[in-house]
Amino acid sequence: MPPADTKASNTENTGAGPHLLSQQSRQATSSAIRDLLVHARRPGIISLAGGLPSAELFPTAPLIAAASTILSQPQNLQYGLTEGEFRLREIVAEIHTTQDRLATTPDNVQIVSGSQQALDLIARVTLDPGDEVVVSDPEYLGAIGAFRGVGGRLVPIPIDSHGLDVDALDEQLRRGLRPKLCYLVPEFHNPTGQSTTVARLTRLATLADRYGFLIIEDNPYGALRFDGEPVRTIASMTENVVQCRTISKTIAPGLRVAWMIGPGWLLDAVRVAKQSVDLHTPTITQHLAGALLGDAEAHRIHMSRLASHYMERRDSLMGALDEHMPAAQFVSPAGGMFLWLTMPESVDTGRLLPFALERGVAFVPGSAFAVRGNAHHSMRLSYSTATPSELRTAVGRLAAALTDWVDGPDISSPR
Ligand SMILES: Cc1ncc(COP(=O)(O)O)c(C=O)c1O
Repeated sequence: MPPADTKASNTENTGAGPHLLSQQSRQATSSAIRDLLVHARRPGIISLAGGLPSAELFPTAPLIAAASTILSQPQNLQYGLTEGEFRLREIVAEIHTTQDRLATTPDNVQIVSGSQQALDLIARVTLDPGDEVVVSDPEYLGAIGAFRGVGGRLVPIPIDSHGLDVDALDEQLRRGLRPKLCYLVPEFHNPTGQSTTVARLTRLATLADRYGFLIIEDNPYGALRFDGEPVRTIASMTENVVQCRTISKTIAPGLRVAWMIGPGWLLDAVRVAKQSVDLHTPTITQHLAGALLGDAEAHRIHMSRLASHYMERRDSLMGALDEHMPAAQFVSPAGGMFLWLTMPESVDTGRLLPFALERGVAFVPGSAFAVRGNAHHSMRLSYSTATPSELRTAVGRLAAALTDWVDGPDISSPR
């Protein structure tokens, strides 16, 4: 029999609690901004904070019609292949072959549960702790989380109105930087709304070939273009690339269907990793995605509706900003859902947020997306879910909040 005190301390040590969390999980902290944005869901607040697609554009009627056929076939409720349903991979391969003019077969396609899962799986199978990953600064938070989650070391490169500053990257590579990955949202970047020019993409592809890193071309917004011509994919410029595409912004994010197209060595490793994560992406939603993407003409009509819907919202937002906030600067996004608003240097948008919430409008402060750079006087405005009239009201409230902030007492903590 062990002495009573040993037994007590054993009991204490075996109690389940946060001490059981891994080092990595303990390091992941909740952000002050995220905590503040909980208030964005309060009734009466117009939120320009979320990155959600407009629910009124979800193709519910064709989804309902397809669901009843899909659910009536028991094999669609069965376990499926880790690489994804053959029919969906065939449709995806066909789309890439015709749209991107890149010969693609179903074997080149890996279906994933959202492109977020693609980022997570790529990070898991390529990065050891300390390995370097080039990202834009500011950057999409989900990508930052995926790379940091496995101990990746982020190398931030500025992004401007022509996209990723490839000269700055080139300079760092010349000085000895040897990243494994370079993550890029080439069109209508989240959060800045900017696209990288073809000239820069071409140079980036050359750098990937010269220095032997893999480009992650994550393009969830490219299909939502309303100005200008589609740009060439990086995959048409180099083989050192993995493309991530999703139906989250074009059909519905709740389906959790996306895909990766990339080199065989990567997809083989991703398949093994995905088996441990979720075995496969749900069969039913893959079939739903296949039904909608497979009807090319109906999908084309749906996409042009989406583009005009978002363009109208972008124009309303820009018009209201010109009217109410002439001192704020932005570059017109040619597609996607986000406008990056830059205020005078003296404005800290993180401190402005509680005043904005008081006035009934929410946005995401630029500092939430900053990797190293200084984005404190910028903010991300999403125009995807508010109506044109709500967008005008929201900007009026934002301008009023700015006046409150400049003139008023400190209310940095929300009520
Ligand atoms: C740049 C970027 N990549 C990936 C994702 C994740 O998309 P999915 O819903 O396909 O996981 C998002 C979602 O907002 C995004 O903005």
